[in-house]
Amino acid sequence: MKIAFLSSEVFPYAKTGGLADVSGALPKEIAALGNDVKVFMPKYNIFGEVEYGLHYQWDLGEIPVRVDGRVHSVHVHKSNLPDSNVEIYFIDCPHYFHRFRIYTNDFDEDERFILFQKGVIEVIQHLKWKPDIIHCNDWQTALVPLLVKDNYSWDRMFDGTASVLTIHNVAYQGRFAKNSFAKAEIKEKYFLHGGIGEYEGGVNFLKTGIYSADVINTVSETYARELLTPEFGYGMQNSLTYRKNSFYGILNGVDYKLWNPETDPFIPHKYSASDLSGKVKNKKYLLNHMHLPFDENVPLIGIVSRLVTQKGFDIIAYALNHLMELNAQWVILGSGEYKYEEMFQHAKNHYPGKVSVYFGFNNELAHLIEAGVDIFLMPSHYEPCGLNQIYSLKYGTVPVVRKTGGLADTVQDWNEFLARGLEIGTGYSFNDYTANALIHSVQRAVNDFHLKDVWKKIQLNGMSKDYSWKRSAEKYIDLYSKAIISRTA
Ligand code: ADP
Ligand code: GLC
Repeated sequence: MKIAFLSSEVFPYAKTGGLADVSGALPKEIAALGNDVKVFMPKYNIFGEVEYGLHYQWDLGEIPVRVDGRVHSVHVHKSNLPDSNVEIYFIDCPHYFHRFRIYTNDFDEDERFILFQKGVIEVIQHLKWKPDIIHCNDWQTALVPLLVKDNYSWDRMFDGTASVLTIHNVAYQGRFAKNSFAKAEIKEKYFLHGGIGEYEGGVNFLKTGIYSADVINTVSETYARELLTPEFGYGMQNSLTYRKNSFYGILNGVDYKLWNPETDPFIPHKYSASDLSGKVKNKKYLLNHMHLPFDENVPLIGIVSRLVTQKGFDIIAYALNHLMELNAQWVILGSGEYKYEEMFQHAKNHYPGKVSVYFGFNNELAHLIEAGVDIFLMPSHYEPCGLNQIYSLKYGTVPVVRKTGGLADTVQDWNEFLARGLEIGTGYSFNDYTANALIHSVQRAVNDFHLKDVWKKIQLNGMSKDYSWKRSAEKYIDLYSKAIISRTA
């Protein structure tokens, strides 16, 4: 199959979260199953062209793309995803993408991704490469299914092209003023009278995609079920329920070439399930690096996260003093809302020697934390998939999570299974989204940390799990076949 994979962020070029990890890994796995995959992303001015081997595509030259009645010149650069033959095309339009960041709150945020989406379609036309599948990810690419079916339907090359939309986080929908469709030259009928793109009087990119993609999926089975409910659907539950028969859940995988304690270049001491001795050395290294004292008998708890309410920081705020009084140390890496930075800064000031913080994005530190901490905390309110808890499992770092979305699908609670006589748990999880439930689970982890045999069992249970991409990639191939069938039906 020929697959065009569209994403607003791809690791290692541009990343704010898990979407980049998925976009950097899944296309390679799909290609490895014998498919021709091309990845498309915007060319932001935040990564080096030379560093990543980008080549200007002279043969494609300058491609005119119209947004809001103005014609912009789009240029194309190409590279290969690291350690692969998978081509990645960078859509270059400095006016929109040279803003020193991936996403903005600028007035023309809609135009930036309209340009990207139309740009990708036009580049595919210029390449004369007929994709069987256009795989869109999140709102930034969710207009493409409709654009291909309507605006570009004159191009018979797209007659057999089916579309897939993957929802990585339904809370981000691309909601804009109603003139957004006019900017994209999408017909008014799709907006008027409760059209597929209309939501609460404005234009909604994600909703447009939900109605126009041939199949839709999200990144875990539990989140797929949750998305049909008002609590988790963020207004999309009715649209998704309408498309229920074409809506699936496929759990993300992990790129173990990047996230593996046996080979991780960012950690000073490599280790494995058969010899865990490097782990405590990494803990010592990390604590020293973060200016905290080392005590083998005090568990170290880590957080690596976007600092947004989704990730459970509001219940952490309620629980903060309780948590800080536990006999544990904390390392926090995150960037996002200032109020949560303040909260952790406050904890650091009040509990000297117990808490260390790094505010910003730091990939190397993220790896060090996964390797060096004993417990990883991820008490998300909702979590479409979540990758850090899966990385934690591989690193013998015991996750404490809320039982939702992908967290529920990847972490088995130690006590819950023990009560059934099974020693198969890989972490700790709780149901109620409350400070009490959170404290209780962290407390359970801190207690068990001192039971050396129990702890090692939990670590090894986690390390033996295999969440490599291969299985999920096979499910995507199946999804693509379904999309093709529904396109031709
Ligand atoms: P989300 O995509 O919702 O942020 P995921 O768990 O799927 O959540 O993915 C988060 C990814 O981003 C992980 O690879 C994690 O290591 C990384 N990450 C998050 N915050 C930071 C940060 N401040 N510095 C470095 N990496 C980060
Ligand atoms: C989103 C979700 C996260 C998921 C990631 C990759 O950012 O918040 O749970 O793991 O996308 O699919």
